Amino acid sequence: MQATSAEDIAIVLEQLRVDGYALASQYVDPGLLAELTDEAGGLIDRFVDGYRSEDYWCYDVAEQELPLLYRIHNLERQGAGRIADLFAGAELHRLAGGLLGRAGPTVCAMVVKTPGVAGIPWHRDRVDVPPLAALNLSVFLDRATAENGCFEAVPGSHRLADDIDVAPTRDAGPVVAVPAEPGDVLIHDVRLVHGSGDNASSAIRRSIVIEFAGTPLAGPVSA
Ligand code: NI
Repeated sequence: MQATSAEDIAIVLEQLRVDGYALASQYVDPGLLAELTDEAGGLIDRFVDGYRSEDYWCYDVAEQELPLLYRIHNLERQGAGRIADLFAGAELHRLAGGLLGRAGPTVCAMVVKTPGVAGIPWHRDRVDVPPLAALNLSVFLDRATAENGCFEAVPGSHRLADDIDVAPTRDAGPVVAVPAEPGDVLIHDVRLVHGSGDNASSAIRRSIVIEFAGTPLAGPVSA
C-alpha cells in the first residue's frame, strides 16, 4: 500500500461525510495489485473449469453453457492467501481505521462483472447503522468505466432517512458515475443509494469489496 498521510485521510473523510463516497486513487501499490489480480484470476478460472460452491453466485443464461458468475462470497475463505491477508491484515485497516475510528472487517467478496452480466439494481447496502458507521471499501483490479458498468450513486443520500424509497431518490438525482483505475480504492457509506450498469464491454471487471464497521469519528454533516 502507498503511504497515505493523515492529510490524505482527512480529504477522503471530508468527501465521505459530504457525498457518502470517495475515491482513494492508486492506494494499492502495483506489486500487491498484481498478487491480488493473480489470485482473483485463479478463483474465477476454477469456476470456468467446473468448480461450484454456494459462495459462487451465478445464474443460467439461455443458450449459454457457462452460467454467468457475478459474485464470490466469503472471499477470504476461498484458499487465496493474499486476499485473506487483505481481509485480516493492516493495509486496508489503516485506511478504514482513519475513517471510522476502531474498525473491523465484516464481509469480504469479489464483485465479478462478466461481459454481458446485468447491472446491480439500485439499493442501499444497510440502513441499520447511522451515517459513517459502516463503509464498503472496493479495491479495483480492472478499470471501471461507464461502458463496463462502473459504480453510480446519488451524492449525499447516505444522510437520508432510513425509510426513503430508492427508485424516486435515484430518479430525482443527481446521479454521479464513478470511473476507477486498477489500484484505486472506492470507499462508500453502506447507507448510500447506489447501483451500477450492465457490463456492455467484452472484458471482465473485478473488484474486491470489504465491509468495515466501527465507531464513527463524527456525526453526519448538517448541510
Ligand atoms: Ni451495494
